[in-house]
Amino acid sequence: GTSLTRCNAVLSNSSSSAEVADIDWDNIGFGLKPTDYMYVMKCNLDGEFSKGELQRFGNIEVSPSAGVLNYGQGLFEGMKAYRKQDGKNILLFRPEENATRMRSGAERMCMPAPTVDQFVEAVKATVLANKRWVPPAGKGSLYIRPLLMGTGAVLGLAPAPEYTFLVYVSPVGNYFKEGVAPINLIVESEFHRATPGGTGGVKTIGNYAAVLKAQSIAKSKGYSDVLYLDCVHKRYLEEVSSCNIFIVKDKLISTPEIKGTILPGITRKSIIDVARTQGFKVEERNVTVDELLEADEVFCTGTAVVVSPVGSITHKGKRVSYGEGSFGPVSEKLYTVLTSLQMGLSEDNMNWTVN
Ligand code: COI
Repeated sequence: GTSLTRCNAVLSNSSSSAEVADIDWDNIGFGLKPTDYMYVMKCNLDGEFSKGELQRFGNIEVSPSAGVLNYGQGLFEGMKAYRKQDGKNILLFRPEENATRMRSGAERMCMPAPTVDQFVEAVKATVLANKRWVPPAGKGSLYIRPLLMGTGAVLGLAPAPEYTFLVYVSPVGNYFKEGVAPINLIVESEFHRATPGGTGGVKTIGNYAAVLKAQSIAKSKGYSDVLYLDCVHKRYLEEVSSCNIFIVKDKLISTPEIKGTILPGITRKSIIDVARTQGFKVEERNVTVDELLEADEVFCTGTAVVVSPVGSITHKGKRVSYGEGSFGPVSEKLYTVLTSLQMGLSEDNMNWTVN
């Protein structure tokens, strides 16, 4: 007991000694940098969330019998805050979309959820409390990670009797180690991410543990990640472990439709909006592996990955390459327009200014 306590104390001391001034903003990558505050809100037995508060960022205490630890009753969200070029104002990109997605996921996972207002206010409060950690304009973003978890104790399989909503943040840069260079994907032929009727369409924590095995095999062979196929026909594209996928052929943009097995990405939806506004035709439909292999351009979208060009796809031992080591023309255009909205370089009436 004593040694464990001592060990924890050492860990938390070392993490709180990190300073904004120590960050190399040009090489920040995507890893946790502990910040100052996190937001914590619990719900009572009648399922209402109340009395949220900012606390110093640090370890939390839960029962070993918590629903989230034993039965995976948990959801998360991913969002980003950007510092505007004036250095002062901070923008959140469409946070009510994440609030709504958490509410639909909570319904699927038998959890109560904060209201959209509670969610957005909590996110704003957390970003403001940690505003010194928001990277300078153009150097990355403050990644925001809202969690919803069954923290009440259960033993028999049942929804937990108590829930915690928690928001923490970390400054981040590029998600993939490739930076903004194209990623190399392999079509996954053994493992599946989701099944019809399962939880693939919500952001439950178990979806992410379930893809680690395929991801680690792929990484050991030099790929960035895997691309999943539907588990029924094994020929329609679903998504990558951490992002959605798009193909471009003769200027037509196509992406797998949302049908319960694919995460309804907010960047995915925003890219569809942006593309249509830019005059492109976009189809949400079944997209086959054959179409993927014949595409002119392939790219991924996600909060963490933003828009990432795909440089190659490997399928059944055959490698198909796209582009010349950078964005294709369509994905480059969409990336530029989307990030201008996110960073406040062009007007987006759905953005929220938090400072
Ligand atoms: C995000 O893009 O925000 C996600 O939640 C994906 C995660 C694997 C980093």
